Amino acid sequence: MFSEYRIHPALLHLLYCLLCSAGEEVVRLQELEGNTVTIHTGLTGVQSDAHILWFYRSESVEIRIVNSQIIRGEIITDYYSEKFRDRLQLNRNSGSLIITNMSREDSGVYKLNIITGISSVWSFSVDVYAPVSKPIIRNQAEKRSVSLRESCSPLCSVENGKDVNLSWYEEKERISSISSSDCSECLSLPLNITNPNSTYTCVAANPVSNQTTQLNITNICYKAVSGQNVKRDQSSSLAAVLIPVLIVALSILFLWFWKKKKKQQDSQDAELNYTEVKTTTRNSRESHEINRAGMTEEDQSDSVDYSEIRH
Ligand SMILES: *[C@@H]1O[C@H](CO)[C@@H](O)[C@H](O)[C@H]1NC(C)=O
Ligand SMILES: *[C@@H]1O[C@H](CO)[C@@H](O)[C@H](O)[C@H]1NC(C)=O
Ligand SMILES: *[C@@H]1O[C@H](CO)[C@@H](O)[C@H](O)[C@H]1NC(C)=O
Ligand SMILES: *[C@@H]1O[C@H](CO)[C@@H](O)[C@H](O)[C@H]1NC(C)=O
Ligand SMILES: *[C@@H]1O[C@H](CO)[C@@H](O)[C@H](O)[C@H]1NC(C)=O
Ligand SMILES: *[C@@H]1O[C@H](CO)[C@@H](O)[C@H](O)[C@H]1NC(C)=O
Repeated sequence: MFSEYRIHPALLHLLYCLLCSAGEEVVRLQELEGNTVTIHTGLTGVQSDAHILWFYRSESVEIRIVNSQIIRGEIITDYYSEKFRDRLQLNRNSGSLIITNMSREDSGVYKLNIITGISSVWSFSVDVYAPVSKPIIRNQAEKRSVSLRESCSPLCSVENGKDVNLSWYEEKERISSISSSDCSECLSLPLNITNPNSTYTCVAANPVSNQTTQLNITNICYKAVSGQNVKRDQSSSLAAVLIPVLIVALSILFLWFWKKKKKQQDSQDAELNYTEVKTTTRNSRESHEINRAGMTEEDQSDSVDYSEIRH
């Protein structure tokens, strides 16, 4: 009998390990950082004298976090871990564990072991996520063009976290998406605008949260263009003031010159009539240029003499 008693737990252990390697059923939980999480076992009426243990495993290191047993008719529940200090609460009736203020560092596998006559094990894989950040839309286009296709090339990006998906929606329909389980770099996704009248939204999502940013075509694509318009408006209003001033000034100047000239002419006319002959000949530099253009010497030789005769 004594030897049987010693073999029994060893056999159980062997059985348990076979189950491990066979891939025991693991319940997956995805939780938001800061929340209080209850790891439900689905059990009711666990024997009041059961020995209940909870383990936490992260990266192959397993620690015991709860040990609850009846010692001399008294329930003794110990919460060992410094990590989970004051954040754990065991429900002995169901075996469920309540964890307050979950952090991302609490992600891992939680294992429940209930020992009555036999030992039973349940595993729960818990992933804790921070809320996803809001996606940001900017315009990648370098040139500002009248064509929307050329001037508008929106790019949506989001700070990456664990299991983040980034998608573009046209109205309610998803038109493109990108995802990454790696947190290292920023996720970004370009958009081709096919219909400027559609509503485009960029959605960042992780398993516990999502954030949406709507594309404002006016804002993203025409912002710089309208900025130029503002400048043009300013310069044109400046011109609107300057041009009449210039016209008035030039008119006055012209009138003054005209009067002066007329006075001079009147006095000259009184003295004599003269003839002015002005002759223009192409200079040699011009001939060289024409020469290079492939014209013959003869073409150049008959250069025209212009005469202007005025009375
Ligand atoms: C929750 O945990 C974080 C650290 O993980 C801590 O800064 C914060 O104060 C905690 N909040 C509460 C309500 O205990
Ligand atoms: C956008 O449209 C152009 C031509 O219409 C195409 O060449 C390009 O691959 C498209 N880009 C994306 C991200 O769909
Ligand atoms: C967008 O809407 C305007 C007026 O609402 C219309 O004239 C134009 O044809 C529409 N464009 C497209 C591509 O549907
Ligand atoms: C992200 O995309 C993958 C593949 O399309 C999908 O399986 C997963 O459920 C998505 N996750 C979220 C949070 O939307
Ligand atoms: C975004 O989250 C809200 C709840 O916050 C949910 O109702 C909605 O379905 C989610 N949208 C997507 C696209 O995942
Ligand atoms: C787009 O942005 C402009 C300028 O910031 C704003 O006046 C307009 O209301 C916005 N439109 C939408 C649909 O949000």
